[in-house]
Amino acid sequence: MSTARCRSTPTLSWDFSKTMTKMTFIQPDGAAQTVDAENGLTVMEAAKLNDIAGIEAECGGACACATCHVYVDEAFRAATGKPAAMEEDMLDFAFDVREGSRLCCQIKITSAIDGLVVRVPAKQF
Ligand code: FES
Repeated sequence: MSTARCRSTPTLSWDFSKTMTKMTFIQPDGAAQTVDAENGLTVMEAAKLNDIAGIEAECGGACACATCHVYVDEAFRAATGKPAAMEEDMLDFAFDVREGSRLCCQIKITSAIDGLVVRVPAKQF
């Protein structure tokens, strides 16, 4: 006769809020779209997954096209960091570069940028 006993199963829990980060894309006409994006993706990938208008991302995130140009809201510039040299070079090809201009394929999503606000330029090139 078996003496196996039923063991209690440990309760597994996962706090999904720690793996998802909220961000808002604002179009040139002021229309805003807020999305939840998985940490570890890039802001460009979040934009493409959510069909954000105006983010072309023709090179697929290789920092070789400048068609994922966005303006990072001033409140998030420290958290998103400054563009690396290669990104700076590529920004030379972007339309209407301003303070806060970034190629969003180069911004990794982490909880540190939760609430990120970026503005989409009037055109990409
Ligand atoms: S997707 Fe091409 S530079 Fe960002």
